[in-house]
Amino acid sequence: MKKPYSIEHLRLIARRRLPAMVFDFLDGGVLDELALRRNRQVLEAILMDERVLFDASRPALGARVLDTDFAIPMTVSPMGMLTGFHPSSDPAVARAAAAAGSIFIHSAWSSCAMEEVAESAPGRVWTQMSFWKDERESRQLEDRAAALGLDTLVVAGDVAVSQRRERDIRHGTAMPPKPPLRDVVNTALHPGWMARWLTGRPITFGNYRIDGRRLRMRDMDPWMMKNENPAASWEHFTALRKTWKGKLIVKGVMSPVDAKMAVDLGADGVFVSNHGGRQFDAVPATVEVLPRIAEAVGGRAAVMVDGGVRRGSDIAKMLAQGADLVSGGRPFAFALAAGGEAGVRSAFEIFKDELETTLGFVGAQSVADLGPEALVHVPPFGAPLR
Ligand SMILES: Cc1cc2nc3c(=O)[nH]c(=O)nc-3n(C[C@H](O)[C@H](O)[C@H](O)COP(=O)(O)O)c2cc1C
Repeated sequence: MKKPYSIEHLRLIARRRLPAMVFDFLDGGVLDELALRRNRQVLEAILMDERVLFDASRPALGARVLDTDFAIPMTVSPMGMLTGFHPSSDPAVARAAAAAGSIFIHSAWSSCAMEEVAESAPGRVWTQMSFWKDERESRQLEDRAAALGLDTLVVAGDVAVSQRRERDIRHGTAMPPKPPLRDVVNTALHPGWMARWLTGRPITFGNYRIDGRRLRMRDMDPWMMKNENPAASWEHFTALRKTWKGKLIVKGVMSPVDAKMAVDLGADGVFVSNHGGRQFDAVPATVEVLPRIAEAVGGRAAVMVDGGVRRGSDIAKMLAQGADLVSGGRPFAFALAAGGEAGVRSAFEIFKDELETTLGFVGAQSVADLGPEALVHVPPFGAPLR
């Protein structure tokens, strides 16, 4: 792999390496992909206040959030099926995140068991769960996380129902896949990926044990469909809060009302996320709701956010709007597809380098200095700057 110079560069390498159906599963969103695009558009439209003649020689990126030290306030969001992008999968991402002084959030829908991932980066892995129809399944994940001594559990609150991913429908992306001929040909034109797929770790929900056995590929889609749980509620969260002794974060929060509810019910963190535009297409960008949510939380819990972060300056913009910790999904999956563990390490280096430069330009000596004054109020297009 040539030395990547940006997250977009990593994305382009990933696009070359992956069959179209796999790349689109990663890159795409639901329906018209409005939320997916909006995350980027709004971040791009936010401007920063450039300052000059300021000592920027020692930018400090470190932060302590949820009793955890971060060398950079940027975590890896939970992503299922990372094995489809590179067989080194979650353990490689977890090791790279740990090496960067960050945290990897393991997904419930990972191909790798939580135990293996936790062992690959001791103390630097959090795990995500959800409230499934069969409560024994949620309980099982909670118990396994507790047995491993993981200190933080992330509850995905936004997966009770899902909108359609139309790119996946076009490609016949399912478990097992049902691709049209053009995708069979396209996949055959990626022999490197094919060879790894045939010989590497199976692309299944390897984290799951149902009645003591792992899910086979043909069980996956029926299980997903059967087990989506539109009845998941704050009552489930309250019950979990009673049994889970560690830190608890609610992911997928887009409304200040829910943020307040989460904190009132004992959440240690509120994770602002629209799932990278992969669940509901009619939502605002995460950075648009972030200030209101930070205000509702009012310092009573940590505020995390993801969605469209592709540059170090995006991390700074999120921190300036009230986030304590920023996170990214696709940037690290592109990096994994592009170059395995080394690719993910380079993604962290790119973010670090770009964040340091941003601090230098906005007159901040540390990430803790980033506040609303680092941003320029943007008037309607064409009106004079105030
Ligand atoms: C391939 C892929 C799989 C994902 N799987 C999960 C998941 O299993 N659980 C979850 O809470 N979020 C999941 N997400 C959403 C991410 O955690 C995150 O919210 C989103 O990717 C952030 O947007 P970004 O990709 O623009 O950084 C997934 C995202 C992608 C791209």
